[in-house]
Amino acid sequence: MSRIPLIAGNWKMHCTIAEAVSLARQVASSAKGLTDRQVMIAPPATSLAAVSEAIQNSSVLVAGQNVAWKEEGAYTGEISPLMLRDAGASMAIIGHSERRHIFREDDAMINQRMHGALAGGLAPILCVGETLDEREDGHTWQVLEQQVVSGLEDIDKSAIEQVVIAYEPVWAIGTGKTASREQAQEAHSFIRDLVGKLYEKRLAEQIRILYGGSVKPGNVDDLMQMPDVDGALVGGAALQADSFDRIIHFQ
Ligand code: PGA
Repeated sequence: MSRIPLIAGNWKMHCTIAEAVSLARQVASSAKGLTDRQVMIAPPATSLAAVSEAIQNSSVLVAGQNVAWKEEGAYTGEISPLMLRDAGASMAIIGHSERRHIFREDDAMINQRMHGALAGGLAPILCVGETLDEREDGHTWQVLEQQVVSGLEDIDKSAIEQVVIAYEPVWAIGTGKTASREQAQEAHSFIRDLVGKLYEKRLAEQIRILYGGSVKPGNVDDLMQMPDVDGALVGGAALQADSFDRIIHFQ
């Protein structure tokens, strides 16, 4: 069993089109020659098409930061799987904590987005993670179980190979506070066991589980040592070409 590590950059609400294209070109050049890992970037929707075109000859994957569950229709503000693919994306981030907490997306909606992505030919990254209060109150496992079970509800065994899960403790996102590698490992192993119970052990061994939350050049090597950490979802440090370069070259 070997899982190809995935380093994913989530640019959130940053970059004009020109800035995004320039950063994407630098990422593409950093990723040149890397064959033992995958690199993905999720620019804002406005620059997806330009970014995809600028790096079309590179191995860097492009993702949407969210995705709707219908191909088209009266859904103001939403972007469909068809539109994301049309703009060159092959993946989509779903259920990011900022979507859950700022925009009040609930588990049911996140599950619909998962189905939309898979039906529309996009590989989803399902984000899960507990808040600080939930951790301190001893509810971490309950929260993770609820988010993983609902996120994957009614997703067929045949589709699960496309799915990536990102464990992102909310208290570590954008705070400079990273989970220790032991905390990350414990959560990843819990999630993998859960996927094994929901599907089968073989599929649980294949699914990639990324860690997200203040991943930086200085802690990525440590986190990537852990057996169940299969990559990283990087926010702030993905916006600087040199930091992201160091992160994708984790050892
Ligand atoms: P951060 O963000 O690396 O800035 O903590 C991670 C994320 O939100 O995916």
